[in-house]
Amino acid sequence: MSSHLLSVDSLSRDRVDHLLRVAARMEPIAQRRKVTRVLEGAVLGNLFFEASTRTRVSFHAAFCRLGGSVCDTTGFTFSSMAKGESLYDTSRVMSGYCDAIVMRHPEQGSVAEFAAATNVPVINGGDGPGEHPSQALLDLYTIDKEFTRLGKSLAGAHVLMTGDLKYGRTVHSLIKLLSLYAPMRITLVAPPGLEMPSQLIDLVVSRGHRVEQRESLADDYADVDVVYTTRIQKERFTAEMSEGFSLSRDFTVDRAFLDRRCGRDTLVMHPLPRDSRPEANDLDVDLNGDPRLAIFRQTDNGIPVRMAIFATLLQVEELIEQDLRPVRWFVPRRLGVDDATS
Ligand code: NCD
Repeated sequence: MSSHLLSVDSLSRDRVDHLLRVAARMEPIAQRRKVTRVLEGAVLGNLFFEASTRTRVSFHAAFCRLGGSVCDTTGFTFSSMAKGESLYDTSRVMSGYCDAIVMRHPEQGSVAEFAAATNVPVINGGDGPGEHPSQALLDLYTIDKEFTRLGKSLAGAHVLMTGDLKYGRTVHSLIKLLSLYAPMRITLVAPPGLEMPSQLIDLVVSRGHRVEQRESLADDYADVDVVYTTRIQKERFTAEMSEGFSLSRDFTVDRAFLDRRCGRDTLVMHPLPRDSRPEANDLDVDLNGDPRLAIFRQTDNGIPVRMAIFATLLQVEELIEQDLRPVRWFVPRRLGVDDATS
């Protein structure tokens, strides 16, 4: 029997804490100071049937950084699913080739169906509007790391989630993951029709958290610790919803919103991609270079967290430190030209 990572629902608080501790131990490798070969010989199947840049590449890179190799497939067109192959058959076939499988698929529940046909660990890389558990883990890891730097604690924290809370799978997984922790205040700001599903709000409230729903960002959020903003998932809209939909500029998180409405150390997060077309009114680029903008620290954190997921599912997490060697190639001190120095 192997275990999969399909939903945040399967994670206890202890298991999450363990994963985050393993992720912290991966930092020297993720930051390219050390090399390990602990997964040498292992093969990952990285199956992406929906658009992806960071999830696909960071799972791939995380497996490589552990010393493993990766087989990739993207899109339906060049897979046997285009010939009518079932998830069951694909799953059994891939199990003969790979030691772990990451899958992203446009239908909610599809990755669980795929995982039901295999004893090889399967990780849900996003199933339609369903869940994205590895993203939620890296988001929590980011919040925890940033709070440690700022001398804050998760207990009593105020998190604001905004954007497409209906179809955004990252916020579905994140709100459930946060709800495992000490009572928090969660404010949800979504345009009409794109609100967080009520069963998720009920679950979080039943765990003792305070949840408020608002319709606009035109309020004061001076005590908000994290603004988590998301892209409108137009690709999941029905034709009727798409007709004439446009996100009002009032939902844009930008420097003016942060300076006027939020505190001096409010963090801004986004699972990315942000839609940079002006009419999208997604997270504004005018915050680039502002240390409150944590989005690229967040994407960087995808590597240690995904390494930790592989290491725990493949049961090598106790072997990591036995195997470390120094990196010999050139690594720039700051990865991005706008990265804030701290
Ligand atoms: C998100 C996704 O695919 O759910 N991106 C990601 O994995 N980091 C968010 C999105 O597509 O808007």
